[in-house]
Amino acid sequence: MLQNDLLLRTLRGETTERTPVWMMRQAGRYLPDYMKLKEKYSFFERCQTPELAAEITLQPVNQVGVDAAIIFSDILVVPQAMGMEVQMIEGKGPLLPEPVKQFADINKLIVPDVEDKLGYVFDALRLTKSELNGRVPLIGFAGAPWTLLCYMVQGKGSKTFDEAKIFCYTQPEAAHHLLQKITDTTIAYLKGQVKAGVDVIQIFDSWGGLLSPDDFENISLKYIRQIVQALKDEVLTIIFAKGAWHSLQSMAATGAHGLGIDWCITPKLARQMAGDTITLQGNFDPAKLLTPIPELKKEVRKMLSAFGGHHHIANLGHGILPNVPVDHARAFVDTVKEYGGKLIS
Ligand code: CP3
Repeated sequence: MLQNDLLLRTLRGETTERTPVWMMRQAGRYLPDYMKLKEKYSFFERCQTPELAAEITLQPVNQVGVDAAIIFSDILVVPQAMGMEVQMIEGKGPLLPEPVKQFADINKLIVPDVEDKLGYVFDALRLTKSELNGRVPLIGFAGAPWTLLCYMVQGKGSKTFDEAKIFCYTQPEAAHHLLQKITDTTIAYLKGQVKAGVDVIQIFDSWGGLLSPDDFENISLKYIRQIVQALKDEVLTIIFAKGAWHSLQSMAATGAHGLGIDWCITPKLARQMAGDTITLQGNFDPAKLLTPIPELKKEVRKMLSAFGGHHHIANLGHGILPNVPVDHARAFVDTVKEYGGKLIS
């Protein structure tokens, strides 16, 4: 039994005593204790060593007081497990030195035995689960197939991912072949995470908003839908497709329990589009965590009030920025907790 299951009850559609809160990318660079481990171990060493991954996962639970842990890992462990080389370059981000260019490159990729290639994530989840000792739920995750294709084709980060888009538009057969291979791997990977004890899974489609509504359906949501359908009866599921607010209605129709939204849509419009029952997650602009604490608190209360106090998970509209002072992250979390207290008194 969990001591704090606010997140799970909210995702099941129950009305809770207060709104649960966590932050995307909460385990990471704004935490001094994370930076200490970063000095000693490379990024993938941190991901692949269950003791380190578990320790990093617990840091924001212990130090910031969030209502959920999210496993420390990365969406790019999936392309790695499929046979691609992935490097994480300090100060620059991911680099895949041999990106996918044509059909033949996709045939070289494997749909791996996830126990064999990603067993270290399952070990990290089991260890984290035992160290959490029921304090808060554990969230597992994977990248959406389209967002993974972006990195696998572009070979590095980008603001526009033109090469990935051009690949999809000029070699659609190859693109769909790749998307299906990623989807098959992801379903097996997430089922493994469920077996290892995660309570919730989130699908990160960070680049969903780069596509037109039609392309989003055809290139991204079609595959996310397969993943949700394979998982939703086993585990609570959240889709976060940044910038793809136009498709909230079709995302809700997948049967996912929660939908993440960013700050570019109002909670009111998101609710109209997604329907009355699904849980919405978000949508604080991460840059506002850099404002003075009294202002930050005022903005958080404004957000909470706009969501109306139920069917809502408080979160950022995208990942936390590395330069956020820890006491500002804590102020975000505390404001949500205090506001909830007011609702029931
Ligand atoms: O949420 C968490 O705290 C769990 C850990 C987590 C990381 N990456 C750790 C990480 C999660 C959920 C991710 C997801 C991820 N990774 C996404 C989707 C979410 C999003 O932000 O859009 C994406 C697109 C990636 C790919 C990725 N990983 C990039 C582009 C980068 C470099 C830029 C950046 O954000 O730092 C990474 C590296 C990475 N992944 C770091 C961390 C803590 C920073 C590198 C380091 O600390 O050494």
